[in-house]
Amino acid sequence: MSERLLYEGKAKRIFATDEEGVLLHRYKDDATAFNAQKRGSWVGKGRTNATMSAALFKFLESRGVATHFIEQVDDETIKTKKLQMLPVEVIVRNVAAGSLAKRLGYEEGTPLKSTIIELCYKSDELGDPMFNWYHFREVGVADEELKRCEEIGLGVNELLYPFFDEKGVLLVDFKIEVGRDEGGELMLADEISPDTCRFWDKESGEKLDKDRFRQDMGGVEQAYEEMLRRVTHMGPMGTME
Ligand SMILES: Nc1ncnc2c1ncn2[C@@H]1O[C@H](COP(=O)(O)OP(=O)(O)OP(=O)(O)O)[C@@H](O)[C@H]1O
Ligand SMILES: [Mg+2]
Repeated sequence: MSERLLYEGKAKRIFATDEEGVLLHRYKDDATAFNAQKRGSWVGKGRTNATMSAALFKFLESRGVATHFIEQVDDETIKTKKLQMLPVEVIVRNVAAGSLAKRLGYEEGTPLKSTIIELCYKSDELGDPMFNWYHFREVGVADEELKRCEEIGLGVNELLYPFFDEKGVLLVDFKIEVGRDEGGELMLADEISPDTCRFWDKESGEKLDKDRFRQDMGGVEQAYEEMLRRVTHMGPMGTME
C-alpha cells in the first residue's frame, strides 16, 4: 500500500494511503514542550503513545463516543478517518495544574469546584492562545462548533475520569481535538496519551506524564510505560488481567 506524507507534526507524521478518506498516524519518538522551544526524544515513545491512544479510542467508542479511530496497524501507527479539523484545542480540567494553577493563583493539585473547560486557538505562530467565543467567531469557528467541542470534552471526561480512577490514576486534565467527517459529524480526533493528559498516581501523587519531560524530572520513559501498562493490562480495582 503506498503512503504519501501529508503533514509532519511535532509528535506524529500523517500519511494518506490508497484508501480514500483514511489516514495513517505514525507516532514519533520525539517530544517537544513550551511551544517547541524544548526538544527531546526517547525510544518507545511512539509505541506507547500510539498504543495508548488506540486503547482509549476503542474504550470510548465502546461507550458510544464517535471518534476518528479505525484500527491500530502496527506498534507506532494507527489508521483513522480523515477529518476536517477545527483549529481548536479543547482543554478539560479536574484539578488545578500548569497554566490554570497560575491563572487562578492556586497551588498545584487543588481540586476544582467543577470541571473547567478552556478553548485555545490552534496556531503555532500565536502559541495556541486561549480564545473566547467572540475571538473564535472572528477566525471563523462557529458557536455551534464550540458548543459541540465542549460537549465532547465533558463527555470524554465523564468516561475517562472513572476509567483512570479504577487504575489508580487521577486524571488531572487533558487536551483533545475535534474534526468533521464527510457526513458533517463532529467527532473526537488526534490522540490521547501522556503527551496530552496529566496523570498523577492516586496514592503517591507521582506524575506519570509529559510534565516529567517538561520539568526534567527523569524517569519519563518508565512513566509512559507504566501508564500504558495500566491502560492495557490493569483490570478494575488495580487487579492484573
Ligand atoms: N483524523 C484526523 N484527520 C485530519 N487531521 C488530523 C486528524 N487527527 C489529528 N489530525 C491533525 O494531525 C496533526 C497531528 O500531528 P501532531 O500531533 O504531530 O501535530 P503537532 O506538532 O501537535 O502540531 P499541531 O500544532 O498541528 O497540532 C495535528 O495537526 C492534528 O490536528
Ligand atoms: Mg499534536
